Amino acid sequence: MSAEFPASDNLPVAGTAYGLGIGPGEPDLITLKAYNILQKADVIAYPALEDGVSLARQIVDPHIPEGRIEIAIRIEMGKPADPIYDAAAIEIGKHLADGKTVAVLCEGDPFFYGSFMYLFGRLAEAGHPVKTVPGVSSMMACAAQLGAPLAAKNDVLQVIPGPLDADRLREQLAKTDAAAIIKLGRHFAKVRGVINELGLTDRARYIERATLETQKMVPLGELPADAKAPYFSMILIHRRGDAWR
Ligand SMILES: C[S@@+](CC[C@H](N)C(=O)[O-])C[C@H]1O[C@@H](n2cnc3c(N)ncnc32)[C@H](O)[C@@H]1O
Repeated sequence: MSAEFPASDNLPVAGTAYGLGIGPGEPDLITLKAYNILQKADVIAYPALEDGVSLARQIVDPHIPEGRIEIAIRIEMGKPADPIYDAAAIEIGKHLADGKTVAVLCEGDPFFYGSFMYLFGRLAEAGHPVKTVPGVSSMMACAAQLGAPLAAKNDVLQVIPGPLDADRLREQLAKTDAAAIIKLGRHFAKVRGVINELGLTDRARYIERATLETQKMVPLGELPADAKAPYFSMILIHRRGDAWR
């Protein structure tokens, strides 16, 4: 794959951290810029679960050259994340001070609800050069996979986090032209209930693990009543059914 990509001659810069948007899942959905930085970075850091499993690491697995220093930032469920980001920023900061370049892998786009921003803030405040390379966000990928344009004309597009309580969800969705509801997981039944209440079920599409081999997508109303949703899932709603109408 590398031979087909034009080399970037000015990237990466020594002592700089890069938050790399690596896209929603399919390894080909990485930008040339992120790919080129990844090829040259000395250190590769990524968020991981307690057991070390990292979707971000898996996405770019085909693109990571051998022999790189790797830092898995393990987020432990139920424990405060701040000390973990503090420690990760210190570890990354030491590599930067040594003149190394560090690529921080970010699923989708780094600044769209991405945890990279917590490192970005810490590294920037500590005086380290830190840059962000935008990526293909899951919201764009979900719309493309579903064949469901997000918004048109004067539609107001909302991004609604599933963990909001039912009243807030109702308030937001009652006025929506178009919405992407993210972070479903254990909030799925509550979100689905509110969509039903508002008569929007036949305007809603569900997708999980977009662009990965395990992707599933279906009109929301066709899911069994007791269906569960993983964390990496989303519902797209358009009040007109299709944005082009
Ligand atoms: C913390 S946000 C991070 C979003 C990410 N920075 C982006 O640009 O896509 C995580 C949420 O994004 C959505 N998401 C991320 N990847 C996804 C995928 N491949 N398929 C469906 N939803 C996804 C899910 O709603 C998930 O709960």
